[in-house]
Amino acid sequence: MNMMRGAAALIIGASLLACAPDTPSQSAEVKIGAQSVIEPEGHALIDGLIAQMTLEEKIGQMTLFSANWSDTGAVNRESWREDVKAGKVGAVFSLFTAQKTRAMQTIAVEQTRLGIPLLFGYDVIHGHRTTFPIPLAEAASWDLEAIELSARIAGREAAAEGLHWTFAPMVDIARDPRWGRIAEGAGEDVYLGSKIAAARVRGFQGDDLGAHDTILATAKHFAAYGAAQAGRDYHTTDMSQRELRETYFPPFEAALEAGAATLMTSFNALNGVPVTGSSFLLTDVLREEWGFEGFVVTDYTSINEMVPHGYSRDNKQAGEQSLNAGVDMDMQGAVFMTHLEQSIEDGAVKMAQIDTAVARILEMKYRLGLFDDPYRYSDLAREKAEIYSAVNIAAARDIARKSIVLLKNDNDVLPLSSAAQSIAIIGPLGDSKSDMLGNWIGAGDRKTRPVSLTEGLRARYGAGNVTYIKGADYTLGAKPNPDAIKQAVALAQKSDVIIAAMGERWSLSGEAASRTDLQLPGNQQALLEALVATGKPVILVLINGRPLALEWAQNEDNVAAIIEAWQPGMEGGHAIADILSGDYNPSGRLPLTVPRNVGQVPLYYNMLHTGRPVTDAEPNAKFKSRYLATPNTPLYAFGYGLSYTDFKYSKISLSADSLPVSGTLTASVTVTNSGKRAGVETVQLYIQDKFGSVVRPVKQLKGFEQITLDAGQSQTVSFTLTAKDLSFYRADMSFGAEAGAFNIFIGSASDNTRKAAFTLTD
Ligand code: NOJ
Repeated sequence: MNMMRGAAALIIGASLLACAPDTPSQSAEVKIGAQSVIEPEGHALIDGLIAQMTLEEKIGQMTLFSANWSDTGAVNRESWREDVKAGKVGAVFSLFTAQKTRAMQTIAVEQTRLGIPLLFGYDVIHGHRTTFPIPLAEAASWDLEAIELSARIAGREAAAEGLHWTFAPMVDIARDPRWGRIAEGAGEDVYLGSKIAAARVRGFQGDDLGAHDTILATAKHFAAYGAAQAGRDYHTTDMSQRELRETYFPPFEAALEAGAATLMTSFNALNGVPVTGSSFLLTDVLREEWGFEGFVVTDYTSINEMVPHGYSRDNKQAGEQSLNAGVDMDMQGAVFMTHLEQSIEDGAVKMAQIDTAVARILEMKYRLGLFDDPYRYSDLAREKAEIYSAVNIAAARDIARKSIVLLKNDNDVLPLSSAAQSIAIIGPLGDSKSDMLGNWIGAGDRKTRPVSLTEGLRARYGAGNVTYIKGADYTLGAKPNPDAIKQAVALAQKSDVIIAAMGERWSLSGEAASRTDLQLPGNQQALLEALVATGKPVILVLINGRPLALEWAQNEDNVAAIIEAWQPGMEGGHAIADILSGDYNPSGRLPLTVPRNVGQVPLYYNMLHTGRPVTDAEPNAKFKSRYLATPNTPLYAFGYGLSYTDFKYSKISLSADSLPVSGTLTASVTVTNSGKRAGVETVQLYIQDKFGSVVRPVKQLKGFEQITLDAGQSQTVSFTLTAKDLSFYRADMSFGAEAGAFNIFIGSASDNTRKAAFTLTD
């Protein structure tokens, strides 16, 4: 067979949207990428195959099994190999390397009746072999090119090992740091999250799915999985249509507009209906409003979980409900495989629905070129050249240092002086390799490849100048250990600089890793306080997968400097050394709000106005919307991050004081690097709709630009706004802007901006 592959994207115009006036999409036009744009030849092939397939073979294409090891749930399918041979499985995940995928593909192609190639998927989340920073960390770079490159490299490495499909990006907005999967996303913000979602899809899929080094992306987990009540993983979500559409949907829309080929359902129930059985989400919104024509895969056994949810009486009914809702592929649950034939006989599902699902799946196999050459991804030579290449490792270091956020730097204690000095690294994260990587490292190597902080600083300052001692235990519930503290303090006292390397073990974030507090786990806090008590300047380097509420450390007289390094990936030790030494001037900015304590959660910058706001003049007034002993303000605001230089902002200049509804308005500021070294500034633009038919957020990010300025250099940054930037779901749920007064804010963080006002006119 030698078929041409198609790639272009379709644009669905206003006509489709006009069909759904009550549930409008944010976009005036929805681009459906990666979808049904194959040549007639491709359709003929797929239709021909479907015409020949038995029902069992069709259901096989709708079945995905894990290769047993590296599972993410409790259900294994021991017989998956036999299932492949019998043509009962169309896709396998967690199986990789050119050799293994080739061997498995040979079975599918040569031993099954129709020889349809398998699709190999995997959780390639932040790197495949070369491990990049966790996705939340990368989001802190605000560097869309670097984020796209990270996904590109992950995709290339994965493709060379025979993988066709990644279960990424996770585009769930997350506003509750108790939820461990906050580590896997892009933080709390709709605008930033949408930009990053699109960048990651572009990275994985490239311009052409038919190229042998691009893989299918999955926008997951649809929808509202990140809003699990109380931050407990897999828990219920319940929210208004407005909140769903305004906050949780846009990153999915952005991912699909960028061409995401597949979409994964989420585990949670949304407003009483398990998502995997929600025809509102999977058909009304996804297919009818957004025009998505890729395929929908469930999360791991999430069809089966509709039974314990109390929604389906048994697996058979769950399978019917999920297929009828719009699911195309069953991940690991074996529900379609076990029950769909009977469901057809019972008339509970229609053959047409099954044929549609199969066609969607085969189309992706076609678009990947698997019908041309089923082995084109399993390439030993490319595998050798690509995996851990010097270029890939350099990119991992580059984005790691761009992801690190300088939170505090009293008296410019950082960067460290370049003269060799005695540096003490103290804390459980100080010489750990595995913790640098975080969760979901796929095929990454936890043991040998990662560069620990001690290794990174020794490489920079010389082995003889850097001493490491553990000093504390980060295990949840670890008892106080005065002896370990004593030894650590003795080392601190004879050192010039103390680096306290603290945070979370890698397994404390990610799936099924929710916490009820945001303090340093184990007995680390006692160590930190003892180190500060020595009177030496303490630099706290945080290595963690979620924001930690470290008010004590931030307080004036305690720690001198704080660096949020997140879980920076395999080059983490070098990247942190780049920051501490000043070889790289920190440029990361928080992609979420860091609370003072867990009681403020959920806390995010673009909250709605209240009728009883606290004022700066009377912060402790009674009968205002506030807590008794904690301010409403966060420990660190969204968008915040320091540099080793300073940036000054001019007043905002507007091209006009009003914006006609079909016109544009330009807002400009001049930013000057007023410090002594070159640096990167992320100029952020927020808007505020002063009055609306529904209450509007106090501030919303609507643009940002990263600029690099030498010491003393200035640059004017301009943003062009249109009415679309001011649009929202109005009282009648129509999407659009309302004429009236707006504020515009431009600055270096959500709480550090200049302000100007304008009017939107009809
Ligand atoms: C469960 C997770 O929720 C999902 O994100 C992941 O892709 C699957 N397991 C497969 O590993």
